[in-house]
Amino acid sequence: MATDSPLIIALDYPSLDAALCMADQLDPSRCRVKVGKELFTRSGPAVLEALHGRGFEVFLDLKFHDIPNTVAGAVQAAAEQGVWMVNVHASGGRRMMEAAAKRLIDHNLSTHLIAVTVLTSMQAEDLHEAGVAATPQDQVMRLAALTQQSGLNGVVCSAQEAAQIKAQCGAEFLKVTPGIRPSFAAANDQQRIMTPSEAMRVGSTHLVVGRPVTQAEDPMAALVAIEAELAAS
Ligand code: C5P
Repeated sequence: MATDSPLIIALDYPSLDAALCMADQLDPSRCRVKVGKELFTRSGPAVLEALHGRGFEVFLDLKFHDIPNTVAGAVQAAAEQGVWMVNVHASGGRRMMEAAAKRLIDHNLSTHLIAVTVLTSMQAEDLHEAGVAATPQDQVMRLAALTQQSGLNGVVCSAQEAAQIKAQCGAEFLKVTPGIRPSFAAANDQQRIMTPSEAMRVGSTHLVVGRPVTQAEDPMAALVAIEAELAAS
Protein backbone atom coordinates (compact mmCIF):
# COMPACT_ATOMS: atom_id res chain seq x y z
CA MET A 1 0.00 0.00 0.00
CA ALA A 2 2.51 2.63 -1.17
CA THR A 3 1.74 6.28 -0.59
CA ASP A 4 2.78 9.32 -2.58
CA SER A 5 2.37 11.60 0.45
CA PRO A 6 5.47 13.64 1.39
CA LEU A 7 4.62 13.17 5.09
CA ILE A 8 6.76 11.00 7.35
CA ILE A 9 5.47 10.76 10.92
CA ALA A 10 8.22 10.36 13.55
CA LEU A 11 7.32 7.54 15.95
CA ASP A 12 9.54 8.78 18.78
CA TYR A 13 8.39 6.34 21.44
CA PRO A 14 10.27 4.21 23.96
CA SER A 15 8.27 1.03 23.38
CA LEU A 16 6.81 -1.09 20.63
CA ASP A 17 3.34 -0.88 22.16
CA ALA A 18 3.36 2.92 22.31
CA ALA A 19 4.63 3.18 18.73
CA LEU A 20 1.99 0.78 17.43
CA CYS A 21 -0.73 2.51 19.41
CA MET A 22 0.12 5.68 17.44
CA ALA A 23 0.56 3.86 14.12
CA ASP A 24 -2.90 2.33 14.54
CA GLN A 25 -4.35 5.83 14.57
CA LEU A 26 -2.68 6.70 11.25
CA ASP A 27 -3.44 5.66 7.68
CA PRO A 28 -0.57 4.02 5.76
CA SER A 29 -2.00 5.24 2.46
CA ARG A 30 -1.54 8.85 3.65
CA CYS A 31 1.83 8.91 5.40
CA ARG A 32 5.02 7.02 6.06
CA VAL A 33 6.55 6.53 9.50
CA LYS A 34 10.03 7.04 10.94
CA VAL A 35 11.65 4.70 13.45
CA GLY A 36 14.62 6.14 15.31
CA LYS A 37 17.40 4.96 17.58
CA GLU A 38 15.54 4.68 20.88
CA LEU A 39 12.57 2.75 19.56
CA PHE A 40 14.71 0.44 17.41
CA THR A 41 17.22 -0.18 20.20
CA ARG A 42 14.41 -1.16 22.53
CA SER A 43 12.17 -3.11 20.20
CA GLY A 44 14.47 -4.32 17.40
CA PRO A 45 13.29 -5.62 14.06
CA ALA A 46 9.90 -6.54 15.59
CA VAL A 47 8.81 -2.92 15.20
CA LEU A 48 9.62 -2.99 11.48
CA GLU A 49 7.69 -6.22 11.02
CA ALA A 50 4.71 -4.83 12.88
CA LEU A 51 4.66 -1.58 10.89
CA HIS A 52 5.16 -3.35 7.56
CA GLY A 53 2.38 -5.75 8.53
CA ARG A 54 0.08 -2.73 8.94
CA GLY A 55 1.02 -1.47 5.47
CA PHE A 56 3.41 1.36 6.44
CA GLU A 57 6.56 2.26 4.57
CA VAL A 58 9.31 2.89 7.12
CA PHE A 59 12.22 5.32 7.26
CA LEU A 60 14.75 3.64 9.59
CA ASP A 61 16.60 6.65 11.03
CA LEU A 62 19.68 5.01 12.56
CA LYS A 63 22.31 7.36 11.02
CA PHE A 64 25.00 4.72 10.53
CA HIS A 65 28.62 5.92 10.81
CA ASP A 66 31.42 3.35 10.82
CA ILE A 67 34.01 1.79 8.50
CA PRO A 68 32.71 1.15 4.96
CA ASN A 69 32.24 -2.61 5.27
CA THR A 70 30.33 -2.32 8.55
CA VAL A 71 28.01 0.41 7.29
CA ALA A 72 27.39 -1.46 4.03
CA GLY A 73 26.39 -4.53 6.06
CA ALA A 74 24.06 -2.53 8.29
CA VAL A 75 22.43 -0.82 5.31
CA GLN A 76 21.98 -4.19 3.60
CA ALA A 77 20.42 -5.62 6.79
CA ALA A 78 17.96 -2.71 6.95
CA ALA A 79 17.08 -3.04 3.28
CA GLU A 80 16.57 -6.79 3.56
CA GLN A 81 14.04 -6.10 6.30
CA GLY A 82 12.12 -4.12 3.74
CA VAL A 83 12.56 -0.54 4.95
CA TRP A 84 11.69 2.19 2.47
CA MET A 85 14.54 4.48 3.53
CA VAL A 86 17.67 4.29 5.68
CA ASN A 87 20.41 6.80 6.43
CA VAL A 88 24.10 7.24 7.23
CA HIS A 89 26.31 10.15 8.32
CA ALA A 90 27.90 11.84 5.30
CA SER A 91 30.90 12.67 7.51
CA GLY A 92 31.73 8.95 7.32
CA GLY A 93 33.17 9.89 3.94
CA ARG A 94 33.01 8.94 0.30
CA ARG A 95 34.28 5.37 0.63
CA MET A 96 31.77 4.60 3.36
CA MET A 97 28.85 6.02 1.38
CA GLU A 98 29.93 4.41 -1.89
CA ALA A 99 30.25 1.01 -0.20
CA ALA A 100 26.74 1.33 1.22
CA ALA A 101 25.22 2.44 -2.10
CA LYS A 102 27.04 -0.31 -4.00
CA ARG A 103 25.87 -2.95 -1.54
CA LEU A 104 22.24 -2.06 -2.26
CA ILE A 105 22.80 -2.18 -6.01
CA ASP A 106 24.73 -5.47 -5.85
CA HIS A 107 21.85 -7.06 -3.94
CA ASN A 108 19.16 -5.51 -6.08
CA LEU A 109 17.67 -3.67 -3.10
CA SER A 110 15.58 -0.59 -3.84
CA THR A 111 15.65 1.04 -0.36
CA HIS A 112 16.37 4.77 -0.54
CA LEU A 113 19.73 5.62 0.98
CA ILE A 114 20.21 9.17 2.26
CA ALA A 115 22.76 10.96 4.46
CA VAL A 116 22.78 13.39 7.34
CA THR A 117 25.14 16.27 6.53
CA VAL A 118 25.71 18.34 9.69
CA LEU A 119 23.50 17.71 12.72
CA THR A 120 21.37 20.78 13.30
CA SER A 121 22.47 20.68 16.93
CA MET A 122 26.03 21.53 15.77
CA GLN A 123 26.95 25.22 15.78
CA ALA A 124 30.08 26.83 14.33
CA GLU A 125 31.95 26.45 17.67
CA ASP A 126 31.12 22.74 17.82
CA LEU A 127 32.49 22.22 14.31
CA HIS A 128 35.63 24.21 15.11
CA GLU A 129 36.18 22.20 18.27
CA ALA A 130 35.94 19.03 16.18
CA GLY A 131 38.54 20.39 13.74
CA VAL A 132 36.16 21.56 11.01
CA ALA A 133 37.00 25.15 10.03
CA ALA A 134 34.07 25.56 7.60
CA THR A 135 30.86 27.28 8.63
CA PRO A 136 27.94 24.91 9.23
CA GLN A 137 26.31 26.14 6.00
CA ASP A 138 29.41 25.52 3.87
CA GLN A 139 29.92 22.13 5.48
CA VAL A 140 26.30 21.17 4.74
CA MET A 141 26.77 22.08 1.06
CA ARG A 142 30.11 20.27 0.85
CA LEU A 143 28.67 17.10 2.39
CA ALA A 144 25.51 17.26 0.26
CA ALA A 145 27.70 17.31 -2.87
CA LEU A 146 29.79 14.43 -1.54
CA THR A 147 26.62 12.48 -0.77
CA GLN A 148 25.38 12.92 -4.32
CA GLN A 149 28.78 12.06 -5.87
CA SER A 150 28.85 8.90 -3.72
CA GLY A 151 25.64 7.67 -5.36
CA LEU A 152 23.12 8.26 -2.56
CA ASN A 153 19.55 9.39 -3.16
CA GLY A 154 19.47 12.49 -0.97
CA VAL A 155 20.02 14.12 2.40
CA VAL A 156 18.28 14.96 5.63
CA CYS A 157 18.34 18.75 5.80
CA SER A 158 16.64 21.69 7.43
CA ALA A 159 14.12 23.53 5.29
CA GLN A 160 16.46 26.55 5.50
CA GLU A 161 18.99 24.55 3.47
CA ALA A 162 16.60 22.95 1.01
CA ALA A 163 16.64 25.67 -1.68
CA GLN A 164 20.42 25.82 -1.86
CA ILE A 165 20.69 22.03 -1.94
CA LYS A 166 18.07 21.91 -4.69
CA ALA A 167 20.07 24.48 -6.70
CA GLN A 168 23.25 22.47 -6.25
CA CYS A 169 21.98 18.87 -6.44
CA GLY A 170 18.75 19.15 -8.43
CA ALA A 171 15.07 18.51 -7.80
CA GLU A 172 15.34 14.71 -7.95
CA PHE A 173 17.85 14.58 -5.09
CA LEU A 174 15.76 13.85 -1.98
CA LYS A 175 15.56 16.51 0.73
CA VAL A 176 14.01 15.06 3.85
CA THR A 177 13.18 17.87 6.23
CA PRO A 178 12.39 17.86 9.96
CA GLY A 179 11.62 20.98 12.01
CA ILE A 180 8.19 21.23 10.39
CA ARG A 181 5.42 23.01 12.25
CA PRO A 182 1.94 23.35 10.73
CA SER A 183 0.29 26.68 11.39
CA PHE A 184 -1.85 25.09 14.16
CA ALA A 185 1.08 23.57 16.10
CA ALA A 186 3.47 24.63 18.88
CA ALA A 187 7.17 24.99 18.07
CA ASN A 188 8.21 22.76 21.05
CA ASP A 189 12.03 22.69 21.22
CA GLN A 190 12.58 23.24 17.48
CA GLN A 191 14.50 26.47 16.85
CA ARG A 192 14.07 27.24 13.17
CA ILE A 193 10.75 25.97 11.96
CA MET A 194 8.84 26.12 8.68
CA THR A 195 5.27 25.25 7.82
CA PRO A 196 4.71 22.23 5.57
CA SER A 197 3.78 24.47 2.62
CA GLU A 198 6.83 26.72 3.04
CA ALA A 199 9.13 23.70 3.25
CA MET A 200 7.71 22.15 0.07
CA ARG A 201 7.96 25.52 -1.69
CA VAL A 202 11.68 25.84 -0.94
CA GLY A 203 12.41 22.35 -2.27
CA SER A 204 11.84 19.73 0.44
CA THR A 205 10.68 16.45 -1.06
CA HIS A 206 9.64 14.82 2.24
CA LEU A 207 8.56 16.31 5.57
CA VAL A 208 9.33 14.67 8.92
CA VAL A 209 6.61 15.60 11.41
CA GLY A 210 6.57 14.33 14.98
CA ARG A 211 4.78 15.97 17.87
CA PRO A 212 2.31 18.13 15.88
CA VAL A 213 0.71 14.81 14.89
CA THR A 214 1.73 12.35 17.61
CA GLN A 215 0.76 14.64 20.49
CA ALA A 216 -2.43 15.88 18.89
CA GLU A 217 -5.67 14.85 20.54
CA ASP A 218 -6.69 13.32 17.22
CA PRO A 219 -3.52 12.45 15.26
CA MET A 220 -5.34 11.58 12.04
CA ALA A 221 -7.23 14.89 12.17
CA ALA A 222 -3.88 16.69 12.57
CA LEU A 223 -2.54 14.81 9.55
CA VAL A 224 -5.61 15.76 7.54
CA ALA A 225 -5.13 19.41 8.59
CA ILE A 226 -1.55 19.28 7.29
CA GLU A 227 -2.76 17.75 4.02
CA ALA A 228 -5.25 20.61 3.76
CA GLU A 229 -2.51 23.20 4.34
CA LEU A 230 -0.44 21.57 1.61
CA ALA A 231 -3.36 21.39 -0.81
CA ALA A 232 -4.23 25.05 -0.25
CA SER A 233 -0.72 26.29 -1.04
O1 C5P B 1 8.40 16.23 17.13
P1 C5P B 1 9.19 16.82 15.99
O2 C5P B 1 8.36 17.18 14.79
O3 C5P B 1 10.09 17.95 16.44
O4 C5P B 1 10.13 15.61 15.55
C1 C5P B 1 11.08 15.75 14.54
C2 C5P B 1 11.77 14.46 14.29
O5 C5P B 1 12.86 14.73 13.39
C3 C5P B 1 12.42 13.81 15.52
O6 C5P B 1 12.41 12.40 15.30
C4 C5P B 1 13.83 14.34 15.49
O7 C5P B 1 14.74 13.47 16.09
C5 C5P B 1 14.09 14.44 13.99
N1 C5P B 1 15.12 15.39 13.63
C6 C5P B 1 15.05 16.75 13.93
N2 C5P B 1 16.04 17.59 13.54
C7 C5P B 1 17.08 17.12 12.86
C8 C5P B 1 17.16 15.77 12.53
C9 C5P B 1 16.16 14.94 12.94
O8 C5P B 1 14.09 17.19 14.53
N3 C5P B 1 18.01 17.96 12.46
